[in-house]
Amino acid sequence: MIEISAVSKSYGSGRSAVTVLDRVSLTVERGEIAAVVGPSGAGKSTLAHCINLLVTPTSGQILVGGEDLTRLTGAALRTARRSIGTVFQGSSLLRRRTAAQNIALPLEYFGVTRAGQRARVGELLDMVGLADRADAYPSELSGGQRQRIGIARALALRPSVLLADEATSGLDPATTASILGLFKRIRDEFDLSIVLITHEMDVVRETADTVARLEGGRIVEAGSIAEVLTNPGSSLARELIPDRAHLAPAADETAWELVYSSAQVRSDWLLDVSDALNTRVGLLSATIEQVDGTGVGRLVVSIDSGLADAAVRDALSKAGLSGNPLGAHKRERSAA
Ligand SMILES: Nc1ncnc2c1ncn2[C@@H]1O[C@H](COP(=O)(O)OP(=O)(O)OP(=O)(O)O)[C@@H](O)[C@H]1O
Ligand SMILES: [Mg+2]
Repeated sequence: MIEISAVSKSYGSGRSAVTVLDRVSLTVERGEIAAVVGPSGAGKSTLAHCINLLVTPTSGQILVGGEDLTRLTGAALRTARRSIGTVFQGSSLLRRRTAAQNIALPLEYFGVTRAGQRARVGELLDMVGLADRADAYPSELSGGQRQRIGIARALALRPSVLLADEATSGLDPATTASILGLFKRIRDEFDLSIVLITHEMDVVRETADTVARLEGGRIVEAGSIAEVLTNPGSSLARELIPDRAHLAPAADETAWELVYSSAQVRSDWLLDVSDALNTRVGLLSATIEQVDGTGVGRLVVSIDSGLADAAVRDALSKAGLSGNPLGAHKRERSAA
């Protein structure tokens, strides 16, 4: 488990000081994959560097297994670094070393014997499915294979936290999917806490348990994927499941945007809502995503404009859904 607690980072001092991270807090349990998203310049990589102790936070704590890593120096810091493995964008392998020699780097650094290195590298190559490419140089590997070697290297010292900064950027969809599958497998096998920094929303939706959005150095929204997706006002939800074009409601109907989690609604909710309102409810667009075995629905329905918003909200909430009327359609009509 890793607890990032009120971490701030400023560069420069006095009037020229720039705050890149502003009291960022994030907890990632064992066995959990936490995504961090946000626009370019938001501070994502700076957060990554604080987590793996390449950069010392100006204030705040980074606790791994209850120990504050930001207070350590010298040998204690070097040992603590072992608990965090990092996978970078483009894997950053050394060109003049083979795949096996790249994986062995952290083992060499910590003085593991030759025989110990050979055994561990063999295990790691097997784990990432590249046992037959041990002697290949990075230039002889595909982008996805290089990334697998980078993951094997990050796992060499058996960390409890794996940090990935844009690890799938620039890979094609099939390769991205296979790398994400590998992350999930090693998460399950080693009960790792994984911090996945990415700008790819598909990656978040398909892999992460939780998501936090960083903007201007602050976390502006965070929660489990299901929580975020079932929050009707969430802008992260819109990024995770972009609005689809929906059919236009009939002239005497209003479009309502609804969200629900299948854990809270009956599968025949549409009938319940129709019955409660004593009117027909039409379907204009619908997306149901599987998140952790639960269905998360975001849809647009059409409902008789003659009904009061409050009555519609009431019927929806009784059925376990929440929603809002879309656009000014209804208002214009009532003004006319
Ligand atoms: N050493 C530094 N000195 C001063 N400013 C820095 C330093 N490192 C980063 N910054 C600034 O911190 C801000 C955040 O940078 P960071 O690389 O963390 O963003 P990011 O979210 O990773 O962006 P991207 O999505 O483009 O990778 C930027 O405005 C950057 O210019
Ligand atoms: Mg970055």
